[in-house]
This record gives sequence, structure tokens and C-alpha cells, in this order.
Amino acid sequence: MAGDDTKARDARMWGGRFAEPTDQLVQRVNASIGVDQAMAEEDLLGSLAHARMLTAQGVLSEAEGAAIVDGLEQLLAEVRAGRVEWQVELEDVHMNLERLLTERIGPVGGKLHTARSRNDQVATDMRLYLKRRGAEVRGLLIELRGVLVDLAERHLDVIMPGYTHLQVAQPVRFSHHLLAYHEMFRRDQGRLEDALRRADVSPLGAGALAGTTFPIDRHLSAELLGFADVAANSLDAVSDRDFALETLAALAILMMHLSRLSEELIFWSSQEFGFVTLPDAYTTGSSIMPQKKNPDVCELVRGKTGRVYGALMGLLTVMKGLPLSYNKDMQEDKEGLFDALATAADSLRLYVGMLPRMQVHDKRMRSAAGAAYSNATDLADYLARKGVPFREAHHVVGRLVGEALAQGVPLEALPLETLQAAEPRIEADVYAALDVESVVDARRSYGGTARERVREQITAARRALAAEAAEASA
Ligand code: ARG
Repeated sequence: MAGDDTKARDARMWGGRFAEPTDQLVQRVNASIGVDQAMAEEDLLGSLAHARMLTAQGVLSEAEGAAIVDGLEQLLAEVRAGRVEWQVELEDVHMNLERLLTERIGPVGGKLHTARSRNDQVATDMRLYLKRRGAEVRGLLIELRGVLVDLAERHLDVIMPGYTHLQVAQPVRFSHHLLAYHEMFRRDQGRLEDALRRADVSPLGAGALAGTTFPIDRHLSAELLGFADVAANSLDAVSDRDFALETLAALAILMMHLSRLSEELIFWSSQEFGFVTLPDAYTTGSSIMPQKKNPDVCELVRGKTGRVYGALMGLLTVMKGLPLSYNKDMQEDKEGLFDALATAADSLRLYVGMLPRMQVHDKRMRSAAGAAYSNATDLADYLARKGVPFREAHHVVGRLVGEALAQGVPLEALPLETLQAAEPRIEADVYAALDVESVVDARRSYGGTARERVREQITAARRALAAEAAEASA
């Protein structure tokens, strides 16, 4: 037992002023290595930039700098190959890697931490990690947008019921519905890009909180790391987690959109709707009911939305009462952020894989689109075009719907005499106006569901995607 305690004390890099070993439970709760090992690469890249900058500034000699850079590069290869063993006694990824470096290159490794603190180090690592994982989510959003546009094009002539209150409202093109999601994901991408832009600022060299006495060049280390800017205030640099919050907010909204899509697919694939069939590879069966095919992927994405909201609310709550600058509470920032990034990426990947393989039952959608008096507004619009004030037209059509409902027939099955009895300005041309296709194609206003308008949306979306692709390859 005593032996263990001595080992634990020896392991502590900050152990100098402590007379007692750390309590075992404290050690476990205090350690973040289980989570922050995910940013081991970023930590090493940050250290490489720091060491190079210190050497350029003459804080480290050329020989010291070279030894440290060598050791760090060796470690980088080991981390990439998954050959590093993490020690919980060393608390976090920063101290684990520093210890490994010193083991490889000797006491000169201890010079790396000159003019640096774990406070600016962790903030740097997180921003670098976020830039990498955020770019991945952005790429997946672009892929999903492409999938939706392809589907919209493929199913341009499929007509489905549009809903409000989940009651049949007016028929729309299935493509129009899909492109509504394209718009949501386009905004999600914009929010994410915006968050990533503000995250692209280097905290490195802020030290523990106040800057450093060494003649460092923060702009150089920022440039070496590919940061667009340098944090202007050292206190803010170590205590700011807005970049994580903004990303989480963007991811929470993105998950909300995926969750709404999931919900729709869940009921569209139900027996009652029968609008789509989800691919076997993306559904599961029941251990008791042999006939079952369950939309688990959609349900899981809908469910996992909760984790991402939780991560956002969790971090907002962690941050809300913290005095400047760094506080250990902030160590809680990583688990939720990393999980949210991974959850969003997986959810997007699932949809990118599943949507193109979904079967669309156009006849079923089409017949549902023509039911439930979805053309009632069109009859009212018809009357309004004939000069009847819309409010009055609404009332007339409401009465006709009541009559048709009582007879159990659609509006267009009512004979002309019945229609004219309700409103004499109705003529024989009314029937053409009530046909589902004309109902859809009459909605020619900008952003409407008419074929030509939906075509325009597809063209615009393709153009935007192509412009982004060109920008990315430029
Ligand atoms: N593991 C810590 C974290 O994630 C690193 C920073 C620790 N700083 C400190 N002063 N104890 O926040």
C-alpha cells in the first residue's frame, strides 16, 4: 500500500509542495486522460509549434529545440499508430505526453513547458481538435445536401400531402419537402462554419492566465498551427469556451433537424402511411414478432438528439458562474463536445447512406395527396379569382366540404349544380382547377411547390454545392 502511495506521489508533476499522496478517488475524478487522449495529436502539434517558436526566439537553444522536436515527432508517430499507454496517475493528456517525452529524450524534455501552462495548452488543443472534427461534420453536411438534391431530382414528379398540424393541408411535391430539409442543413452548415471561424484563434502563449515573462512570439506559434488569429487577451484566452458552446449550439440545431426528418421517416414508413420503405440494412427486426421491421436508425438519431442538447445545456451550466480565468470545472467541457461531434457525424453518415436506398411509394403518396379535401384552398382561390372576397369564398367552400364529407365523396365529385347552388359564380372549369396536378403546379409563387419552382430550387442548390466544391479545391 505504502509503495503504491509513493508511486502516485512521484508521478505527480506538480507534487513538490504536497506532503500527502492524492486520495485515490480524487485521483480518479480529477483525471481527464480517459477523455482528453482523443486530442493527443493536437497536443503534440501544439507542443511542436511551441518548441519551434521557443527555439526561434532563443528561449531554447537549437540543440534543445531539435531534441524536443525529434522526441515529439517520434511520439506523434506512436500516437498515430495507437502505441501509447496512458497513465491515470498522470491526470491528463498534457502531462502524460510530457512524461513520455522526457522518458524518450531525458530531462531536456522538461524545458518544453517553459512559457506555457496547461491552461493555454488545453484551450489550444481543443480549438485544433474542433477545427478537425468540425471540418468532418461540415463535409458530411455537404454530402447530405447532395443526397437530398439528388433525391429531389429523382422524385420531382412524386406528389404527396403537405401537412400542418399533421392534418392534410395542401398537396406538395415530395422534392419540395426534401428540399425544405436541404435548406435546414444549409443553414446548419453556415452556423457551423461561423462557429469554426471564431474558434480559429490561438490561445497559445497566454500562459496560466497573465501571459509570460519569456520573449515569446505568439503570432509565430499561431501561424505554425494554422490559426487565423491570436487571442488578444490572455485572461480571455484561457477562460473562453464560447467556441465549444457555439459549436454545440450549431450541432444541437442540426440534430433537431435530423430528428424531425427521423420522425417523418418513422411515420412515413409505418403501415398506416406506407409512403416509403426503409432499406433492410438500416432497419432491425424484433426478437418476438417475426413480421417486424423497425426504423431503429431513425429512432436512434431522434433519441441521440437528446445527448447533443444535453452537452450544450451541460456546458452552458458549467460556465455560467465561473470567475475568470481558468477553473477546473472547465475540464468538464470535453466529454460532451467530443460526444456531440461524434454523434452528429455518425447521424449524418447514417442518413447519407440510408436516404438514397429508401424506396418511395409514389402511388400511395399521390393518392393520400388527393384525399382529405387537400384542394379546398384551391376552390376558395378559384372563387376569389372570380371576384368573391376570400373570406366569403372560405366560408362557401367550408360548407361544400361539409356537404361532401356527409356524402363521403371528394369535392370534385360534387355535381356542378350543387357547387353552383352554393355559389353561382362557379363554372365547369372548376374541375380542372381541383385536379391534384394543377393544384400543385398552380403554386408558382417564388419558393412554391410548382414543378418549375422546384426545378429552380434544385438548380440553385446544385449551383451552391458546386461553388462550395470549387472553393474547397481552389
Ligand atoms: N485537464 C485539464 C483540463 O482539461 C487541463 C488544464 C488543467 N489546468 C490546471 N490548472 N489544472 O481542463
